[in-house]
Amino acid sequence: MQQLQESAAFIQQQVEGFTPEFGIILGTGLGGLVKEIEVQYSLSYADIPNFPVSTVESHSGRLIFGTLAKRNVVVMQGRFHYYEGYTMNQVVFPVRVMKLLGVQKLFVSNAAGGLNPQFETSDLMVLTDHINLLPGNPLVGRNLEELGVRFPDMSEVYDEKMIRQAMVIAEDADFDLQEGVYVSVPGPMLETKAEYRYLSMIGADAVGMSTVPEVIAARHMDLPVFAISVITDMCTPDRIKKVALADILEAAAKAEPRMTLLIRELIRQQ
Ligand code: HPA
Repeated sequence: MQQLQESAAFIQQQVEGFTPEFGIILGTGLGGLVKEIEVQYSLSYADIPNFPVSTVESHSGRLIFGTLAKRNVVVMQGRFHYYEGYTMNQVVFPVRVMKLLGVQKLFVSNAAGGLNPQFETSDLMVLTDHINLLPGNPLVGRNLEELGVRFPDMSEVYDEKMIRQAMVIAEDADFDLQEGVYVSVPGPMLETKAEYRYLSMIGADAVGMSTVPEVIAARHMDLPVFAISVITDMCTPDRIKKVALADILEAAAKAEPRMTLLIRELIRQQ
């Protein structure tokens, strides 16, 4: 708690009293939303005390403060993954700092593999629920009472009102928006065919290596959450093929304008 407060105090000093209303976490290949933001302050993770430092090349590691649709936002350009070797507490550290900075709602994006046969590469999927298959979660250990309760409810993890608003925005903008369950796995290897089949059988529509820890930490602090996956590769038995990071980035780039529109309009409506 002391480390969180120290980081928040440092950031507050740097941004000269700017109070973000919404927090946004951008996933692999989805950093372009930042182009839509009127940036006021941009801090490198490396300069923020206690902040973990990003190791993935496709993530740039900056905390950006500015306005999107005339609303104050803070954006994590680059996130921390369990597979990089961070502890769950490190993975969610920035989300907790965002809350201390005043954030009232959290928006999360990620790249994910498609398990639902009705999906296509570059589809967007709104998360309606999740399954945590990471080997741990950020709430294990002594509860930080200042942040939330010991046994947080998870019956409505993803804010239903924002899901409905997103469906209307997509309809008005004339693109398909899928809905489904996201399962988080440790990675960094992609799954075997048998694992994809298993993940599909347990009820997941998309699989990825992020999001769930941050969402758990946000719900612990009672922050409403909206999360979206970009389906970067299809993993059903008939469509699975070798994927390279370049393919994932290409599929994410194709979906990015739709994702950006969706998050911007959703923020406008809050
Ligand atoms: N599995 C896990 N994570 C992913 C995938 C996948 O197939 N695609 C993009 N992120």
